This record gives sequence, structure tokens and C-alpha cells, in this order.
Amino acid sequence: MGAISKIPKLDTLVIELTNKCNERCKHCYIPDIVKSVSTDISYEKISAIINEFVEMGGENILLTGGEILLCENLLAILDYVHSKGLWIALFFNGLTLTDDHIYKFKEVGVNDIQVSLYSVNPVVHDSITKVKGSCEKTKKSIERLIDSGLPVRIACSVIKDNMNEICELLDYTLRLNLMLSLEFNIIAREDKSSDNLKYRMSPEDLESCFRVLAKHNPDFTKKLLLRIDRAKKIKDNYEEFLNGPVCGAAQNMLYITSDNKYSICPGWVIEDDKSDLRLSLKDFWEKNEFLNEVRNKKERSFPKCVDCEALDYCVRCFARNHLETGDYTNPPDFACQYAFIAKKVFESIK
Ligand SMILES: C[S@@+](CC[C@H](N)C(=O)[O-])C[C@H]1O[C@@H](n2cnc3c(N)ncnc32)[C@H](O)[C@@H]1O
Ligand code: SF4
Ligand code: SF4
Repeated sequence: MGAISKIPKLDTLVIELTNKCNERCKHCYIPDIVKSVSTDISYEKISAIINEFVEMGGENILLTGGEILLCENLLAILDYVHSKGLWIALFFNGLTLTDDHIYKFKEVGVNDIQVSLYSVNPVVHDSITKVKGSCEKTKKSIERLIDSGLPVRIACSVIKDNMNEICELLDYTLRLNLMLSLEFNIIAREDKSSDNLKYRMSPEDLESCFRVLAKHNPDFTKKLLLRIDRAKKIKDNYEEFLNGPVCGAAQNMLYITSDNKYSICPGWVIEDDKSDLRLSLKDFWEKNEFLNEVRNKKERSFPKCVDCEALDYCVRCFARNHLETGDYTNPPDFACQYAFIAKKVFESIK
């Protein structure tokens, strides 16, 4: 592995404020035991990291968890992030949203809020989160955020349990004039136990889900299935495409875990002492050998993929590969099946 000539700018820092959570979603990549014992990253640690991030020219902060609304320092952290003029995104389930939260989100001008809702049917949603009443609470929070004029969108991981509910969820989001992000790329738990993958759809489930969605709303489904118009990119400049990065991990984005570690992305914990948060952000970003190795991976580093007919429909996820095959450059069979099914359904939409 040769040294890279130029270290890219770190634009986006994703901070996992806590792994505490008030839901126990079946598919969640955070093991349940962690949700019970997690502690929050300290305010001092976060403000020090943010100072360094700003000195390095960073622009965007995304706060996630666990459930960040349970983080005791959330409001103070938001004030600090705002004082540095950063773009702010928040991910949460919204169960414990208060007026104080809403007031602060407006005061600091939060730019993007993603709330997870798995179905508008309480029986289905609550069976995924394992919390009775969670569907109604999350919907109420979404509607309060909208009424307050905050920029909200809905995220939904699609698994066996809610695969037949997506059309109704889509209609609900369209009625509210919101964007819906559907996630089919369910990754294993971050401790590499894969018991959550039993909820992931089979290839047959996936095809049936895509076909129902395509019949219900062809335009939405087309946008969903064609991940990036790589075909055009390839046609316009194939060499440039081959030398380009596969995703933002280690390119312009870094993840910080609530147990005080630098990491590549959610679910992908680096198990070595060189990723301890006591190291400076700048040193980690510029000098960590593993980060540089990931950064050096280009499209051309995956010979199997470069000539693949389903490339345009493929979710190229290093974390998923790492957790399932032990090699972040090696996709599990599911990944390829997903991409070929997406291609087949896309091409059948009139
Ligand atoms: C980990 S949660 C953290 C924020 C918040 N607790 C929530 O649920 O929105 C962020 C998003 O990751 C999704 N997610 C959880 N486990 C996943 C997995 N194994 N694979 C893909 N996405 C997952 C959740 O459904 C949620 O939309
Ligand atoms: S997906 Fe979010 S809400 Fe659900 S258990 Fe995981 S962290 Fe909690
Ligand atoms: S479908 Fe498989 S071979 Fe094709 S691009 Fe995706 S991961 Fe690579």
C-alpha cells in the first residue's frame, strides 16, 4: 500500500453522543447490552474535538446515538456546535422530545432532523422497537417538529416485519410533505454477532417488496433503486470514476463512538489503541495507518465490481462487508443479490 499524496479535508464529523436507548429495535447494530450500560461522551471531550475539527476546516456535525434525546448534555452541546457556526444534523427516535428540545433546535437553527419510523401501523412499528406506544409517540413528535417549522425527514430500515407496510408509510410521508429514506442495507451488530440479520429480508422478500413499491409509486421506486447514476459518470469519464472513492468514509467523514474512539463509520468499531479519543483529531485523520489504507481504496481496487452489470444499483458499504465477511473489501452474497434484484426491478418499471 503506497502512501497517499494528499490528505483530503475532513468536512463531516458524526458523533455518537450516547448508546443509551429507550427502544430495543430488532435490527439495531448496537447490541442491547451496550444500550443498558452506555455512558455519554463528556461535554469537555466533545468541545475539545469540535475545536480541533473547526481548526481543520470542518463544516458539518451529525449527532446520533443510541438516542441523543437521552443525552444529558445535548442542549449544551448544541449551543457549543452553534457557537462555532457549524451545519447541524440530528438523528433520533423522538420518544422523549420536549418543548425545551424544540426551542433549542430552533434557537441554534438545526439544519436536518431524521426521525426513525418503521410503519404507521402501531402493531408493526412497536413490534420492531419492542416499546408499546412508540409508534404514536414518534408520529406525534414528527408532527410537532413540522408544526415548529423544523426541517424533518423520516428514516425507515426495512426488514421482514415491515416490508408489507412501506406503501402506507410512503403515503404518510408524502401527505406531510416529508422525505422518506428507506434503508435495505441492514448491517450485522457492531460486535459482529449477526443475530439481527435473521430479520433481514430474503432475496425473494426484497424483490416482492420492490415490486409492490414500484406498482404503488414508480417514480419514488426508480429513484430509490438507482443509487447513483454511475452509468453516466462512467460514460463521461471512466478513468476518473475508477480513481474515485467508493464512499465518504475516510474521505471527508469521520465517526466518533460514545466509548471514546475514532471510527470509520457507524457499526465499524476499530479494535486498537491507536483510535483512542485521547489522540488528537488532526493526528488521527492524517496519520492513522488504517484510515489511510481505507482512504486509498478506489473503485479500481475492486476488480469484481468495476465490470459488474449491477454496479449502479449496488450499496457499496465497507462496514457491512467488514462485519459480515471480516474483509471490508469483500461484499457478502446478500449485497450482490440485492444489487441484481434492484437492477431487474428498475428495468421492469415502465
Ligand atoms: C442507530 S439509529 C440511532 C438514532 C436513533 N436512535 C434512531 O433510531 O433513529 C440510526 C438509524 O440506524 C438505523 N439502523 C439501526 N440498525 C441498523 C442496521 N443494523 N442496519 C442498518 N441501519 C440500522 C436505525 O433504524 C436508524 O434509522
Ligand atoms: S435503531 Fe435507534 S432507537 Fe432503535 S434501538 Fe437502535 S439506537 Fe435505539
Ligand atoms: S453487486 Fe457485487 S460485484 Fe456488483 S458492484 Fe455490487 S458488490 Fe460488486
